[in-house]
Amino acid sequence: MDPIRVIRGMRDLLPEQTRWWRWMEQRLDGVMDRYGYAEIRTPVLEHTGLFARSIGQETDIVAKEMYTFADRDGSSLSLRPEGTAAVVRSFIENNLGKKEPLHRLFYRGPMFRHERPQKGRYRQFYQLGAELFGSAHPSADVEIIEVAVGCLQAIGLTDFSLELNTQGCPVCRPGYREQLTAYLREHERQLCTDCRRRLASNPLRVLDCKQAACTAVAEAAPHLLDHACDDCRQQFDQVRAGLEKLGIGGRLNHRMVRGLDYYNRTTFELLAAGLGAQNAVAGGGRYDGLVESMGGIPTPAVGFAAGLDRIVLLLEQQVAEPERPPLLFIAAQPGYWLETLPLLQQLRQAGFTAVNDVRQGSFKSQLKRADRLGARLVLLLGQDEIEQGTVTIKDMQAPSDSERKQWQVERGGLLQEIGGFLER
Ligand code: HAM
Repeated sequence: MDPIRVIRGMRDLLPEQTRWWRWMEQRLDGVMDRYGYAEIRTPVLEHTGLFARSIGQETDIVAKEMYTFADRDGSSLSLRPEGTAAVVRSFIENNLGKKEPLHRLFYRGPMFRHERPQKGRYRQFYQLGAELFGSAHPSADVEIIEVAVGCLQAIGLTDFSLELNTQGCPVCRPGYREQLTAYLREHERQLCTDCRRRLASNPLRVLDCKQAACTAVAEAAPHLLDHACDDCRQQFDQVRAGLEKLGIGGRLNHRMVRGLDYYNRTTFELLAAGLGAQNAVAGGGRYDGLVESMGGIPTPAVGFAAGLDRIVLLLEQQVAEPERPPLLFIAAQPGYWLETLPLLQQLRQAGFTAVNDVRQGSFKSQLKRADRLGARLVLLLGQDEIEQGTVTIKDMQAPSDSERKQWQVERGGLLQEIGGFLER
């Protein structure tokens, strides 16, 4: 019978990879703690309407990429393609803004988009996201960008750049959209078929098309910043001043439009070298109208999400391997396995990583297994050791068995001996 395989665009993360993930996640959680962000966990399934109303019916994510199906009662459900919509739903549903308007929340987990799979682009991928509710002040935008940058720095990544833009607001965007549409209509014949369609539905997305002919048209297109109202322009200037003050800087990219409709004012992306086409490792921005449009009390907000799969790809290329805790392996002469149990218990209670060979084969096969597992020390329990109340410690550092040093210690002094030896 043919074995069943994993779904296209989805993947297993095996121990060789999860080592990196766990190392990274610990550090990223540390960043969230230091900036005062508390974790929120929402379900992976939501009513389809949540995403259609927040991300936008016309966006690629909602129109083409969602995993949507009918529940048993016929209602339409979707696997979440991103985290912001659900956090906003939960913020409203749990009345979080009623007592205290300011909330710093973060989340981590799988998201699902039916995109064309390639390096760094998967149909199930993982995001770490942060959302800051309750402030329209530019200092909130600066904080969110600082957190995003801080995440990359905390795991030792340095080769990335920040791009910034403003999406305007309901006051200035309609005028800009008209200007842009008029300009694009003049060049309609040069645009790809997708962009000709976008011209009517979402002309700003033409700015972001990767087709060479469209890029040329987009390069000469009017800039939103030149048509922004005074409030939007001032906000943007102050965000940039804050970033300068922190030494973060950032490059203005007039053509950056994000693939989600809820943004206004500041938007940003962090781009990393070494990833090929899928070089955005994080993206976000301000979404002041979303909470209200989803039925909540008006609450300005700003947030970002980082793509953890892409970050792990970079870590594997750029950062020294995360250290594993030293492994202690207990090998016992056949017939003595019961004697290994209290020893293992004692070692684990003291915080060591300790295993034995639960196949309980010959002494020789146990030692081979210890070698394959990369044990740092093997603790040998034979008849002599058990009769004398001792343990033989074998240092596995040397490559060949003849060079490996071993010595005997009293059971009572074992923990101290191992602790002292590993610290050396
Ligand atoms: P986004 O730009 O769609 O924003 O996604 C954020 C990050 O998720 C991207 O920069 C990328 O690293 C990663 N990502 C997206 N799609 C994939 C994929 N198919 N495979 C691997 N990684 C992927 C959002 O999702 C917004 N919710 C961010 C936000 C939060 N804005 C405000 N608050």
